[in-house]
Amino acid sequence: MSPLVRFLFVLVLALGLLTWGALDIVSSTFRGWFDKDLRLRAELAVNSSRRALTAAWESGNVEALGRLLAEVARDERIMASAACDVEGRAVALTVDWPSELSCRVAARTVGVAAMRGGSIHLSALMLDGEGARLGTIVLVQDVSFLARREARAREFLLIAFGLLAAAAAAVTLVAARLSWRGWSNELRRFLKGGAQSREFQPLLRDVRELVEKLTVEKEIDGHGAWTPERLKQTLQRHLQGERVVVVANREPYIHQRQGDGSVAVLHPASGLVTALEPVMRACGGTWVAHGGGSADRETADRHGRVRVPPGEESYAVRRVWLTAEQESGYYYGFSNEGLWPLSHAAHVRPTFRIDDWHHYKAVNQRFADAVLDEVDSDDPIVLIQDYHFALAPRLIRERLPKATLITFWHVPWPNGERFGICPWKVELLEGMLGSSIVGFHTDQHCNNFVDAVDRYLEARIDRDLRAVAFRGRTTAIRPYPISIDWPNRWARAAAPVDVCRREVFDELGLAPDAYLGVGVDRLDYTKGVEERLLAVERLLERFPQYRGRFTFAQLAAPSRTAIERYQRLNESVEALAERINRRFGEGRYRPIALLRAHHEPPAVFRYFRAADVCYVSSLHDGMNLVAKEFVAARDDERGVLVLSSFTGAARELTEALIVNPYDLEQASSALATALAMPGLEQADRLRSMRAYLAEFNVYRWAGRMLVDAARLRSRERLTGRLTDQLLGLERSA
Ligand code: G6P
Repeated sequence: MSPLVRFLFVLVLALGLLTWGALDIVSSTFRGWFDKDLRLRAELAVNSSRRALTAAWESGNVEALGRLLAEVARDERIMASAACDVEGRAVALTVDWPSELSCRVAARTVGVAAMRGGSIHLSALMLDGEGARLGTIVLVQDVSFLARREARAREFLLIAFGLLAAAAAAVTLVAARLSWRGWSNELRRFLKGGAQSREFQPLLRDVRELVEKLTVEKEIDGHGAWTPERLKQTLQRHLQGERVVVVANREPYIHQRQGDGSVAVLHPASGLVTALEPVMRACGGTWVAHGGGSADRETADRHGRVRVPPGEESYAVRRVWLTAEQESGYYYGFSNEGLWPLSHAAHVRPTFRIDDWHHYKAVNQRFADAVLDEVDSDDPIVLIQDYHFALAPRLIRERLPKATLITFWHVPWPNGERFGICPWKVELLEGMLGSSIVGFHTDQHCNNFVDAVDRYLEARIDRDLRAVAFRGRTTAIRPYPISIDWPNRWARAAAPVDVCRREVFDELGLAPDAYLGVGVDRLDYTKGVEERLLAVERLLERFPQYRGRFTFAQLAAPSRTAIERYQRLNESVEALAERINRRFGEGRYRPIALLRAHHEPPAVFRYFRAADVCYVSSLHDGMNLVAKEFVAARDDERGVLVLSSFTGAARELTEALIVNPYDLEQASSALATALAMPGLEQADRLRSMRAYLAEFNVYRWAGRMLVDAARLRSRERLTGRLTDQLLGLERSA
C-alpha cells in the first residue's frame, strides 16, 4: 500500500468514526428536544381545558368529559386522549384511542413508546379535584414525524461530513505536496550550496553539520593508516593538488657556517619543525621562514629560495631576511618576551614594548608579502604557524579574500583574563580571525580562545559549532592534536638498541649495569628542567640504591640566548646540576650529565634508545613532541616515559607515568617506579602508546586540517559563485 493510500485510508476511517459518534449525539439531542416539546404541548392542551375537565369529571358527566377530551385531541399532533382514574381504569376515551393500549399501562409509560405501525408519545398529566386526585389525562401524540426529521438530519449530517472529509483530504494533500516540494526544493538548493529560507536554516544547518561530520569522519577514519602517500592523495582529491604554502618563523633547514669554514645543514630543535617537515615532504609547496642561519643567504637564490631536503629536494624554503633590529623586536621582543610567557603558565612575566609591537606588525606584513610572492592562484591554501604570526592571517586575507587560511597555534592559549593583559589583544584577535580555521592542540585552548573573542571583540559566537563570525567572515575554531611522522624516519634510521646503549654509555662513562634517564629540550623555562633535576636529586635522597648507579643525561639545546631570562635559566640549570653532582657524585660518577649543545635528531634518538627512562617535565606545553618521539624510538618496547600532566601529550599518552612536575615526591616516586618496572609492563605500556601514535600520526593531523579546509573551500566557492551570480543579475537589471 502506498503511503498516500495509507494516509487516505486512515483519514476516511477517522472521519467515519467521528461521523458515527456525531450522529449518535445529534439523534439523542433531537429526541431530548422533541420530548420536551411534546410534553409542553400536552401540558398546554390540558391546562387550557383543565377547569372544564375537572368540573365534568367531578360531576360524573362522562359525556361532557369525552367531548372535552376530543377538544384537547384536536391539536394536529395529538392522536387520542383518555381520562384514567387513580386505579388505572378508563373513565372516558376519544374514539381514536388505540384499542391495544390500556389506561393502566399508558399512565405509567411516559415518553416515546413503540406501537404497531410506528412510534407514539405518551404524556400523562394529573388532574386534581376538590381535596382529592381524580386521575390522569393521558394524551397519545404522533411522533412518526420525529423519525422522518431525524432521518433527514442524519442525511444532512452525513453529506456535510462527507464534504468536510473530502475537503480536509484535498487540503491535506495539497499542503503536503506543497510543503514536500518546498522542502525538497529547499534541500536541493541547500545541497547545491544556495541560499535557504530563514525558517529552514536551523534544520538544514544541523543536517549539514551532521553530514559533513560523518563525511569527514569517514574520510579521516576510513581507508586505513595515514601515510605520506595518503596525505598526498588527500591533497590531490580534495584540493586538486593545490600547492601548500607554510608560514613559520623557524625554517626546517638552517645553513650554518662552521668554525672550519664549511657549511653545515642543521635541523632546529623545534616541535613545529618536527611535525611540519614530514608534511611538506609529502605535500610539496613552499615554506616561508626567517632566514636566520649564518650561511642562509649564500645558499639561497636571489629570491631567497632554496630547495630542500638536501639531496631529496621535494619542496622549497623561501627565506625572509630580517634586520637585526627587526629580529630583536619581532622575534626576541614581542614573540618571545611577550606572547611566549603570556601563553605559558610558567611564572614569567610577559614584557610588552611598543617598539617590539611595531616590529611585530612590520614583520607580519613582510611575511604576508612573501606569501603573496609565492602563491600562484587567488585562492591558495596557506598554513600559518604559531604565535609569531597572529596578524598575518588578516593581512593576507585583505589581499587574497578567497584564500583558505589555516592558522595553527602550537603553544597553549591562555584563559581570557590572562590574555587580557596584552595591550594589543584586540589587534591580535582581529588578525587571527582573518583565518578560515584557527587550530589548537586541545579543546581547552579552543575554549580559551573563544572566551577571549567573547570578552574583547564584538563578534558573533556559535559555541556549538565552535565558530566565530566577525566582519562578515566566519572562522572555525578546531582542536587538532599534533603528532610526529610514523613510521618515524629517525627511529628507522637508528642503530640497534644495544649499539645505541653501548655508544651512549661509553660517551657518558657509565658502567654496563648503570641506569640511564634522559631529558631532551631546548633550554626554556617552560620545560621544567630545574624541577626535573630536583626530582632526580629527590630520587637519590629517597632511594639510596640508585646512588652511584643512576645518571640523568639532559640534552639541552641553547635557545633564545639573547633574552636575559634564558641566560639566567642557563646559569641556574648549570648551577643546579653542579650542586647535585657535588652532593651525590663520587669518583667518576656524576648523577647529572648536562649536555648543553644542539643535538641533531640521530644523536637524540640514540639517547632515547639507550635510556631506561625519559622524563618530560614541562610546566606548561601545548603538546610536547619529545614525549612522542621517545615512544617512536623504542621499537624494542623497553623504557618508561614519565610525563608531566601539564602537556597536551599527557591527554593522549595515558600509559606514561603521569606526574605533576612541581611535586617532587610524586615525580621522584615515578622515576623509582620506572626504574623498577618489569620488562613486561614496560612493553605493555609502550605497545599501547605506539599503536596510538601509529594511528594518530602527523599525516592524519595534516589530513584532517586539509579535509576541513577543503570542505570550507568548496562551500565558500559555491557561496562566492552565488554572490557573483546575484551581482551579475543586479548589474543586468
Ligand atoms: C616552540 C614553538 C615553535 C618554535 C620552537 C623553537 O615549539 O612553538 O614555534 O619554533 O618552540 O623555538 P625557536 O624560538 O627556537 O624557534
